[in-house]
Amino acid sequence: MHHEVIARHDRRDALELTHALDATLDRVLGSDPDTPAVLRAAMRHAVLGGGKRIRPRLLLASAEAIQGGPLDDGVAELALRAAVAVELVHAASLVHDDLPCFDDAALRRGRPTVHRAYGEPMAVLTGDALITLAFELLADDDGPHHRRALALVRLLAETTGSGRGIIGGQSLELHPARWDDDRPMAQVEDYHRRKTAALFEFAMKAAAVAVGHGPRVCDSWGSVGTTLGLAFQLIDDLLDLHADETTTGKTTGRDRALARPNGALVEGSPEALTRLAGHIEHVGRRLLELTTRPEPVLRLLDDLDTMLLGLGADEEANETEHRSSDRSPSPRTDRVALVRVA
Ligand code: IPE
Ligand code: IPE
Ligand code: MG
Ligand code: MG
Repeated sequence: MHHEVIARHDRRDALELTHALDATLDRVLGSDPDTPAVLRAAMRHAVLGGGKRIRPRLLLASAEAIQGGPLDDGVAELALRAAVAVELVHAASLVHDDLPCFDDAALRRGRPTVHRAYGEPMAVLTGDALITLAFELLADDDGPHHRRALALVRLLAETTGSGRGIIGGQSLELHPARWDDDRPMAQVEDYHRRKTAALFEFAMKAAAVAVGHGPRVCDSWGSVGTTLGLAFQLIDDLLDLHADETTTGKTTGRDRALARPNGALVEGSPEALTRLAGHIEHVGRRLLELTTRPEPVLRLLDDLDTMLLGLGADEEANETEHRSSDRSPSPRTDRVALVRVA
């Protein structure tokens, strides 16, 4: 099946592409007449109607930052395909993560989890189907950048896979008792790097691949994504301990109940916050070193801060919309998280 992702147009910026994201997800999840109706409904339940869309937005914002401005048609098409694919894999990972044999969670994005709504066997298949759809979509590229599309297919496979990817990471939590007591945080970070940071690394690296950079530049962007992903999982670990379900829209308290390797449980919340602040600082610094146009990514980091902690648009958040390019980056995630958890 051929998936038309965007209509041919002029150059596109990240904001415009982000607006196309949900409509594109809706279209790709509704366009295959052969997918059985219940399976399609479960796939749509998993992906649509919620979610912060952080990974695809990060990919699109990074592409604009790397390009130094709006993207031409071919690059925009490829970046949007990769953005949709990363969200599909992420949604699949959540469906499987929530299953009774993993975190046994009832609530996700403010709604029943897929297995609660459609049953466990259908939830297993839903995750599988979303992963294969992600690859189908990426490989479907008939634009001018076939080689880049192929590189993205490979990269997404590594990101999802059993080695340094999500599947490898999720498998580590099943036997935390075997972990080495001398270096617990190093092992927690290795686990976080695979299960969570891999998708953030993909988002930023894929942006550089879509724009057409070679391995050195792509790896540099990827490693910023890794650090951001580590920060993101630490925030999630803190929220799992300290926030309630109304704030997060998902079942919380699972890490303590299931003895999951949670960073804030392993080293303590104050230490986790210090580590988080270090990661965020590192991301801001590297962004300024890598591009003279970091604004799309910095704006996203500020949005993320607001979204994660459910603060709504306060004065400071409004002010960031008018941030001038010479202002130094100050992602507020560390500070707000500190205030909330204290
Ligand atoms: C949740 O990710 C899973 C983690 C890796 C912590 P998100 O917080 O991005 O979930 P959605 O997509 O917004 O629901
Ligand atoms: C989720 O980790 C990571 C993946 C889905 C691969 P968590 O189990 O910490 O995420 P939540 O809290 O369920 O969203
Ligand atoms: Mg989990
Ligand atoms: Mg979970």
